[in-house]
Amino acid sequence: MLVEVVDDYEAMSDRATEVVTEQIRKKPDSVIGFATGGTPKGLYNRLIDAHENRGLDFSKVTTFNLDEYVGLPPEHEQSYAHYMWSNLFDHVNVNPGRVHIPQGMANDIDEHCQWYERRIEEAGGIDLQILGIGANGHIAFNEPGSSLGSRTRIKTLTTKTVEDNARFFDDPEMVPEYAITMGVGTIMEAKTVLLLASGERKAQAMKKALEEPLTAMVPASMVQMHRSAHVIVDDEAASQFDYRHHHGIAEPKD
Ligand code: GLP
Repeated sequence: MLVEVVDDYEAMSDRATEVVTEQIRKKPDSVIGFATGGTPKGLYNRLIDAHENRGLDFSKVTTFNLDEYVGLPPEHEQSYAHYMWSNLFDHVNVNPGRVHIPQGMANDIDEHCQWYERRIEEAGGIDLQILGIGANGHIAFNEPGSSLGSRTRIKTLTTKTVEDNARFFDDPEMVPEYAITMGVGTIMEAKTVLLLASGERKAQAMKKALEEPLTAMVPASMVQMHRSAHVIVDDEAASQFDYRHHHGIAEPKD
């Protein structure tokens, strides 16, 4: 595991941009897994800049998003489809036919989840999966207790997640209680996982994910099993580590 601790959110976003840019330049038809949330926004802004000013070409890239709320149409402002198009895809030359985001309005959700898994396989698997982490250690919508071998499926959101989301919805009836999410097993099949975390609010989850025993109660701890995990955290998110992480070597703090 490669763990890089950088100064702050801006530095984390800069480094993540280098990693993603290098992946696309090295392999123009890369399959990239995208995440939503506040964490990767700095990365997405920089990717748009790299496209506009440094010729970063997305035309052959295939994308798969981690998750989507059930019951929200893609045009809904809070849908992850809307997030991806407005924060990244609308501003780069990605081929819409190569974009995959789970469909929250699918009629047969189980069938849709199986189709999503098949699409990932047919695309040759995910080369680089971008990941954030929830304050409780979740990845995508794999909340604590999710099977570490799980595949794409429908999950009930925790009461906490539903409550946290309520503020984004004018109509309380629209607050989603379910999501479609890639499973922990699906995510861990990516050739490289790039886990990003910034801020004090993520410090406890990052400590548990990297320095404590692997457990389904902290789905992000599964990165310990990955053969090519790359973690970029800022000082605040790294503040609870007992060890100083230097490029894969963990040294006790003095
Ligand atoms: C949601 C998303 C995750 C994301 C997490 C953290 O639960 N499903 O994919 O990593 O939020 O979000 P943020 O980056 O805003 O802290």
